[in-house]
Amino acid sequence: MSISSEDKARLIAVAEAATRKAYAPFSGFRVGAAILTESGNIFEGCNVENQSYGLTICAERTAIVSAVAAQGGEKMRIRAIAIVNEDQTPCSPCGACRQFIWEFGRDAIVLFYDSKGLQESSIRQLLPHAFSFD
Ligand code: THU
Repeated sequence: MSISSEDKARLIAVAEAATRKAYAPFSGFRVGAAILTESGNIFEGCNVENQSYGLTICAERTAIVSAVAAQGGEKMRIRAIAIVNEDQTPCSPCGACRQFIWEFGRDAIVLFYDSKGLQESSIRQLLPHAFSFD
């Protein structure tokens, strides 16, 4: 499974723009995510924090919820997801987001920055032994 370099560039650009919508007054860490669905649509998300810190929603899950709301959960499948932040601080998806991505895209490609730059991985690599009923 792979995506074109054009799709990759589009996802990164949309995710970068989404960082500007982040609500991150507590951490100051503004994250953006963009999803390419199997049907070819792109959805964006940003992190949304709360005074009650534990209620914070990561950019990845915001994007996924937005895609489900638009396309319907049974139909929405993630082909690829990009995660960025304002200054390319290394940031791979947290454990909760990995499980959430996996739910909607067992072959999803995951683009994120680590200390070496932009990485292209897969949710299978990032989440071995995902929780599953089947
Ligand atoms: N955050 C994300 O949005 N995505 C990640 O992959 C890692 C962390 C957010 C949550 C919180 O608002 C801030 O970054 C600091 O943890």
